[in-house]
Amino acid sequence: MKKWYAVIGNPIGHSMSPFMHNSWFSQMEIDATYIPIQVIEEDLDRAVSSMNLLGISGFNVTIPHKEKIIPLLDILDPMAEKMGAVNTVVRLEDGRLKGFNTDGLGFVRSLEEVVGDQLKSEEVLIIGAGGAARGIAFALETLGYSHLTICNRTVEKAGAICSELEQKAAAISLQQASEQLNQFKIIIQTTPAGLKNGDFSLPFSIEKLNSTAIVADIVYNPLMTPFLEAASQKGATTVSGLGMFVHQGALAFNYWTGQSPDLLAVKKQLIENLG
Ligand code: ATR
Repeated sequence: MKKWYAVIGNPIGHSMSPFMHNSWFSQMEIDATYIPIQVIEEDLDRAVSSMNLLGISGFNVTIPHKEKIIPLLDILDPMAEKMGAVNTVVRLEDGRLKGFNTDGLGFVRSLEEVVGDQLKSEEVLIIGAGGAARGIAFALETLGYSHLTICNRTVEKAGAICSELEQKAAAISLQQASEQLNQFKIIIQTTPAGLKNGDFSLPFSIEKLNSTAIVADIVYNPLMTPFLEAASQKGATTVSGLGMFVHQGALAFNYWTGQSPDLLAVKKQLIENLG
């Protein structure tokens, strides 16, 4: 019998997830379809109950529901519990809904796809202290990255994430990050700075960026954010958010089907679609 999957969020019209998962279903000859469903915040409760009623086998959760969905689920994977956010839900055979978070691990996999997994003892700087930064910090720690620093406009928020990590991590201001930038090998930009129309500002000056640094962004549209563009001009290796998007999707796909999809072909198609 055909299976149904979905992504719920608001807005949802620009999501590339339906394209990606449907490509994988058709490539792998799995009889399933993935649909986008716009759900406003007030309707989240009813939307989740409907998923069960309609027999949806699994779904992704995106902005603004990643945190608020937690009390509506029956079981949480430990990583999702630690992160306080869910982006993937699996409907178990007995009908219970189990929440996972594949964003942070998806990011680290995409980073390691480009730079390998030999950089775990290098200095890592995360810019921003929102939900994405938090997930990435936990995933980096889980995978053995041992020198983490988080900088944020509101330093207290960076401090709050650091205090939840098991390892010692430093919380610094954007100004300090800018001044100490040459000390970092891996720099991960998670803020929306410079993404509004006509605003090309960076979170801070990257004058001191090392040309040997690896600079990653979590945004994939545009593929080259102003931050990556500036880093690339300084000779740094850049990693766009597209890899994170594809890897988080592949991990979700694996939870749903037990299978590992082909990442390369879908990445090429997405790049073509993004122009
Ligand atoms: P997400 O869940 O996607 O990470 P978020 O929770 O809204 O999004 O977090 C956005 C992050 O970007 C925050 O760290 C925010 O800084 P504050 O904590 O000080 O609000 C940061 N941010 C947003 N706009 C920024 C800007 N123009 N310059 C620098 N940092 C910015």
